[in-house]
Amino acid sequence: MLKLKNLTKVYHSGDEEHVAVDGINLEVKQGEFVILIGPSGCGKTTTLKMINYLEKPTSGEILLNNTPTQHLNVVKLRREIGYVIQDIGLFPHLTIAANIEIVPKLKKMAKNKRRARTRELLEMVGMDPNIYEGRYPAELSGGQQQRIGVLRALAAEPDLILMDEPFGALDPITRDQLQEEIKDLQQRLNKTVVFVTHDMDEALKLADKIVLMRDGIIVQDASPSEMLKNPANDYVREFIGEDRLSPQPDITPVSDVMVSEPLTVPRETSLRDVMSRMKKRKSDFAVIVDDSRNFHGIVTANEIQLLKRQGENSLESVRGQEPITASTTIRDAAHRLANGTPVLGIVNKKQRPIGLVSRVALLRGLVEMWDEASAE
Ligand SMILES: Nc1ncnc2c1ncn2[C@@H]1O[C@H](COP(=O)(O)OP(=O)(O)OP(=O)(O)O)[C@@H](O)[C@H]1O
Ligand SMILES: [Mg+2]
Repeated sequence: MLKLKNLTKVYHSGDEEHVAVDGINLEVKQGEFVILIGPSGCGKTTTLKMINYLEKPTSGEILLNNTPTQHLNVVKLRREIGYVIQDIGLFPHLTIAANIEIVPKLKKMAKNKRRARTRELLEMVGMDPNIYEGRYPAELSGGQQQRIGVLRALAAEPDLILMDEPFGALDPITRDQLQEEIKDLQQRLNKTVVFVTHDMDEALKLADKIVLMRDGIIVQDASPSEMLKNPANDYVREFIGEDRLSPQPDITPVSDVMVSEPLTVPRETSLRDVMSRMKKRKSDFAVIVDDSRNFHGIVTANEIQLLKRQGENSLESVRGQEPITASTTIRDAAHRLANGTPVLGIVNKKQRPIGLVSRVALLRGLVEMWDEASAE
């Protein structure tokens, strides 16, 4: 969706030259939530500004859906990209509704449709439209203004949204709430987000990919769990903070502890066959698939004994189960395992089984992670 190639920005002030962004390369996929993080002055805002051409790159290239952005019409480009700027930047002489509707209006969206959308957005962030749509920015708190800044970027339903520390000035509870909302929205609508923050906790919570910068370069880009597991160097380690480097069930995906390539059997398999195959594989579980080889459920050795006693011959009567995916967190998997199911099936996007995780496997995985972390 978005590619930065050798992107460089040199600012000149008087005779001084300052390299704000120094030849960075980055690929952002459709639907990805990418977070730029790093100390003040490392080039985060400059990078965002170059993406929608608020700053012209000194050299290098930006590809948006494979088209170099320097060939695109700047005005159109900016309307297609949602941008939440670092200092909010609401227009003081326009009402809240008018601020949110700037781009939809430019795009000639019908007035009643626009207004309905604005009201829906305000409700989404817990601001009563009847109270707020007619107010002016100065009549809002800093946190409320920040929410409006976010809504304004969402209003035109852009595929790509750039956000520069959008939640910086919020209290922790409101920030938490807005983080959940933005993540939910991004996943539901499959939006691509490039988001700047100073806050590592925010990055770990929201990002599919974290890009850690220093002095205009990218020091490491990796998924949160990858970065925690393998920090590229001491700078990364220090930035993450030692306390976060211990195992994090909240963000570690279940794929880290899953049993892959599980024994898989079609529903019509006889109980005798299943038993003998489980013995051969030394497995206490078998994944049951339907006629299209999609995940149906899981059967345990105990359940097979029970079925036999009930006079069943095949797996047809085993109830289906809701599977999880490889990116489900260990924490969410643990919740499901604690609430009755002894083992969970893991599927890919096509609903094909790729693994399973049992209570024992999950505990073993956790113990291993803790041991590894304390050995370092
Ligand atoms: N218009 C400008 N002219 C000259 N130098 C600039 C200009 N804008 C930014 N810089 C410099 O470029 C560097 C990168 O700035 P940038 O705003 O991208 O940092 P940042 O990572 O967003 O920092 P912060 O976290 O404080 O927002 C800084 O050293 C800054 O002083
Ligand atoms: Mg900045």
